[in-house]
Amino acid sequence: MGLETVELFAGVGGFRIGLERAGHEVIWSNQWEPSIQAQHASECYVAHFGEENHTNVDIKQIDESSVPDHDLLVGGFPCQDYSVATTGAEGIKGEKGALWWDIERIAREKRPNYLLLENVNRLLRSSTDQRGRDFGVLLHCLHDLGYTVEWRVINAADYGYATKRRRVFIFAAQANTEWGQWMTSKVEKPDYLTQRGFFVDEFPVEDVQTQLPIAHPPNTTLEGDPKETSDEFEFDFEEAGAMVDGGIWTREVTPVYQGGTVLRDVLETDGVPEKYYLDEEEVEQWEYEKGAKEIERETDDGYTYTFKEGAIPFPDPLNEPARTLLTSEGTTAPGRVKHVVEDPAIGQLRILTPREVERIMDFPDDWTDTGMPESWRYTCMGNALVVGLVEQMAEQLTRDPDN
Ligand SMILES: C[S@@+](CC[C@H](N)C(=O)[O-])C[C@H]1O[C@@H](n2cnc3c(N)ncnc32)[C@H](O)[C@@H]1O
Repeated sequence: MGLETVELFAGVGGFRIGLERAGHEVIWSNQWEPSIQAQHASECYVAHFGEENHTNVDIKQIDESSVPDHDLLVGGFPCQDYSVATTGAEGIKGEKGALWWDIERIAREKRPNYLLLENVNRLLRSSTDQRGRDFGVLLHCLHDLGYTVEWRVINAADYGYATKRRRVFIFAAQANTEWGQWMTSKVEKPDYLTQRGFFVDEFPVEDVQTQLPIAHPPNTTLEGDPKETSDEFEFDFEEAGAMVDGGIWTREVTPVYQGGTVLRDVLETDGVPEKYYLDEEEVEQWEYEKGAKEIERETDDGYTYTFKEGAIPFPDPLNEPARTLLTSEGTTAPGRVKHVVEDPAIGQLRILTPREVERIMDFPDDWTDTGMPESWRYTCMGNALVVGLVEQMAEQLTRDPDN
């Protein structure tokens, strides 16, 4: 039977599509766009899944006790400053505004068996002046709530998807669950992260450890409480790792490449409307935007420096996966990071269509065609996750770790 799931920061439902494909059930969801009144992502979500048990308010307004009991809590949340601001009678308190603390308080109240979270891989390194602090705080909070944790940075292109999007996925399991017990009993094995962990069945990596001892101690350990971690902890987290009982094991891993899907595979083959094609007069401007440059700039206090950036292929190669989609993808105004392709049918340059962008993120065709302005269809896909990756993780959750 599937897991009853709560989906936070739901966007247009990327987690939900992947989870449902693997037989899990989302019983409650929340999505709220802070910057504008129009709530396009939430409306799209409701158009597909109905409004029952969906909430469209700032997560900060949600009382954690009103969230239904659930087995699995999922969400892709912004990477912000997770420093611990105050202690004292109230105990540990997070930096105001950081959305991690809303996940933390819901998990604290509800103690779901599992969490599955997604974030930019920069989370492993931040903050800039205390490397690894924020992820350390996150791990320490989860440790305090009785979770064991495993994480992996995954580049979707390595595992068969049409985009080179790299994101960190964080899986947490209560210590008394099957996965929690598995991690606890096996994490010291030198091949845990390359042969036995939560992610390796679906996202295999090369096993390069031949000479390591039978059991190996953690690379570092969390000391004291999250406040102490926030004040003092610094650590270089690698792309794969696990935290059990405050011990942290981490290592670099090399994916066993299973890719192959490229940009050409997701392109619409005929009938692409005229409006997506570049204006010939603007091609030179596009070339400039995409090109390498060195520009003399001056700071407010009069210091001059040379700003440099390298070239981005123009047009984008069709025999490679797409670059990471950003929320700014969708207009024909010349821009550096937007994709431009040479249409295979007629040989002219054009931007990607909304449907192609959905295919890149492994969403069903026209998923965001629910009445929102077209530029928002690109924005929503720039925010989304690659659905198939979640589906694979959701499948793994249905398996017994022993088999
Ligand atoms: C990285 S996106 C997640 C997208 C989602 N996984 C998907 O597949 O569409 C983060 C989402 O959190 C929403 N968000 C930001 N601040 C929020 C808040 N205070 N309360 C609720 N949702 C918020 C954003 O509007 C955005 O849709």
